[in-house]
Amino acid sequence: MSETRPPQRNKRVLSGVQPSGNLTIGNYLGALKQWAREQHNYESFFCVVDLHAITVPYDPATLRAKTREVAALYLACGIDPAISTVFVQSHIPAHSELAWLLNCVTPLGWLYRMTQFKDKAAKQQAESVSAGLLNYPVLMAADILLYQADAVPVGDDQRQHLELTRDLAQRFNHLFGETFTIPEPMIPPAGARIRALDDPTVKMSKSEVSSEYHAVYLLDPPDKARKKIMRAVTDSGREIRFSDDPERAGVNNLLELYEAMTGETREAIEAHFATARGYGDLKKEVADVLIATLEPIQARYHELTRDVSYIDGLLAEGAARARVVANATLDLVRERMGFLKART
Ligand code: TYM
Repeated sequence: MSETRPPQRNKRVLSGVQPSGNLTIGNYLGALKQWAREQHNYESFFCVVDLHAITVPYDPATLRAKTREVAALYLACGIDPAISTVFVQSHIPAHSELAWLLNCVTPLGWLYRMTQFKDKAAKQQAESVSAGLLNYPVLMAADILLYQADAVPVGDDQRQHLELTRDLAQRFNHLFGETFTIPEPMIPPAGARIRALDDPTVKMSKSEVSSEYHAVYLLDPPDKARKKIMRAVTDSGREIRFSDDPERAGVNNLLELYEAMTGETREAIEAHFATARGYGDLKKEVADVLIATLEPIQARYHELTRDVSYIDGLLAEGAARARVVANATLDLVRERMGFLKART
């Protein structure tokens, strides 16, 4: 088989966030913060994955508003549209088309094994679970493979989906010849799995919110963010140390938040809190750092969203750039899979 990719191209990253709720500090620390850093090292594609957000029941007007909001938050979190391509997934039909093609080479058993499918399906009436929810990881694989991404910066919860993407790319390359780059997950050493503040046994989520104290959102005003941290569930101890003990998951989560936001080492953090009087001191400092982290993001967000047409214009430019790359891969896939080329 012939070599399929230009030999000298820059390494690429692709990632995305679903516009399915309010973005949380978990989304920032697990994903967006890394994107902002890595855009200087990779040719970067960041999409708002709206087609993924319709795999569970949703409201169309909210989807439209959240799609813009999430795009604006990408920029507010430091994504620079001059060097990164920011776009909306549904603006590039190649995503849906490649997903269909890949669906036809994906064994059903791979999809039934996905823990996110099992968890999300279990929360709905069995008869109302959509086929889209099952096929969700195939669409995600299409997102990544269309751009021949070398690395995918995500939080820990996407690890299994990335594994499936790699398996699928390998299977396709084996069946039809070298076509796709095999992507590597890029999971941050700190902040990859921030837990819910109201229940540290579960992941902090933007779509499954158990109470108003579940998550800190990127657009929470400072007093609200502080209140949520001060109310975070902990245990009855006093010792402020990192720990794998499930009983101490709440304190560990606050320490991980602090670690991911400050970039300090665990030793330095434990030494810093060695003289603290109790969890109240820890919470107060986490809240201070959190508010300082959110403040510039919120200021930029409000600035950017004063003019809606600015975001829409950037998304149009992003889609124009993304389309070229996506269509080149899709053409190759169509050829490899044996489709008759349409005469133009
Ligand atoms: P989504 O929208 O659930 O989450 C977006 C990103 O945030 C990360 N994340 C977290 N990181 C740390 N702690 C948390 N509590 C936390 N919650 C979420 C997620 O790992 C993710 O990186 N399937 C993806 C969206 C997607 C995608 C893609 C990602 C679709 N196509 C292609 C990468 C590449 C998702 O549902 O993310």
